[in-house]
Amino acid sequence: MTSSPSPLAAFGATSPAAREASVRRKIPGSLARYERAQQTLAGGVSTALRRSARPSPLYFDSGAGAVITDVDGNQYLDYTLAWGPLILGHAPEAVNQAVARQLAKGHTFGAQHDLEFEVAELLCRAIPCADLVAFANSGTEIVQVALRLARAATGRTKYLKFEGHYHGWDDSVLVSYRPTRPQIEAAGGQPIPVGVGQRPNHETVAVEWNDREAVTRAFAQQASEIAAVVCEPLLCNSGCVAADPGFLEFLRDITQAHGALLIFDEVITGFRLALGGAQQYYGVTPDLATFAKAAGGGLPLSVLAGKREFMSHIATGQVVHAGTLNGNPLALAAAKATIEELARDDAAAYRQLWSLGETLRLGLQEILQSAGLPVVTAGGGPVFHLSFMDQPARTYRDTLRANTALYSDFGLALLDEGVLVLPDGRWYISTAHTAAQVEQTLEAARRVIG
Ligand SMILES: Cc1ncc(COP(=O)(O)O)c(C=O)c1O
Repeated sequence: MTSSPSPLAAFGATSPAAREASVRRKIPGSLARYERAQQTLAGGVSTALRRSARPSPLYFDSGAGAVITDVDGNQYLDYTLAWGPLILGHAPEAVNQAVARQLAKGHTFGAQHDLEFEVAELLCRAIPCADLVAFANSGTEIVQVALRLARAATGRTKYLKFEGHYHGWDDSVLVSYRPTRPQIEAAGGQPIPVGVGQRPNHETVAVEWNDREAVTRAFAQQASEIAAVVCEPLLCNSGCVAADPGFLEFLRDITQAHGALLIFDEVITGFRLALGGAQQYYGVTPDLATFAKAAGGGLPLSVLAGKREFMSHIATGQVVHAGTLNGNPLALAAAKATIEELARDDAAAYRQLWSLGETLRLGLQEILQSAGLPVVTAGGGPVFHLSFMDQPARTYRDTLRANTALYSDFGLALLDEGVLVLPDGRWYISTAHTAAQVEQTLEAARRVIG
């Protein structure tokens, strides 16, 4: 992303340099461990994005509820929630007990067990598009199963995705995700690979989010080749940019009209906006939907949910869906406990997530605005995005106007005040966060502003 330079001492009396020095003094254990890890672990981290943590990747010892504790004993109010999965917070009792019970009975069988159909039944009840489900371990894998299914169902090979949307790290989808302006200009409308070593991509049509004309044009030109349209129904990976009113319905109609499938990638929105995901929240039902993150409540689990006519290709074995640890009992024990907690009392958890999340979002917005900073928040409640820019975004390209350096300084100052946030501006809240903790967070933001 492009960004304007951060004004020195943007937040109150303490400069970013002083904040960085203050944090570094508090984290000697993390700094030493990161040095050590880099000797044997490529890059010192287990997934590339974690390297961007400022001033350095932290090492954690434990988490409980909304609080995470690093190896130096510093405690933080956690709004990263492991990049989304911890919808019930850290180490929730119900999940701990379910996993412990299963641990004692065996880790994995490579064979059938009751939790498979028990969780499948819960999912089919909760998710509007789910006549049948299938399990895997990560979001990346399950998106591949969805695309394979779409190709099998249509006999076509291409799919349409939107700029800024993330669908995992496979070559087929890791294109046109957060390209820079020069990259966009140089690409001439072709999909833009994110890293080197990726296979040339001839199967993707990438267009701008909320651009009806571009989608209509793509179908006019190559309807006979497009197997599916895939999108994050709320663009959480790039600014929580919502679909324009009617845009998801438009995608539903145009895919149906051309015999292509509509796939919602609900890896973030699933179990977060509502128990039935964004499709329940927005009232638009896709043909297939992918879930991960919150589905496993912190254990590795992904889910493909879909209509019987398409999922039947997996049921007959015509479409291969495989994996040694698919449907493993530990992850499914965690999923069952998580879904039961979320569903309890007519899904009361969501009323809390929305109300507390909105208090936090609107509170931060007001504090920053009253300090004269141009702030935009998008999304809402359970997952929202905060950026420093003057106008809300409708497309990924709009998000390039955000002052990401200033946000990075804000995140660093919050860390110094005991609040942990993701580097990209996304905030997650869990059912474990309390009103008092949200108020503490707003107090921290006030101190940061000075
Ligand atoms: C919308 C979306 N799809 C797919 C993925 C890939 O999931 P995983 O990291 O579990 O492979 C992610 C990960 O952040 C995601 O946000």
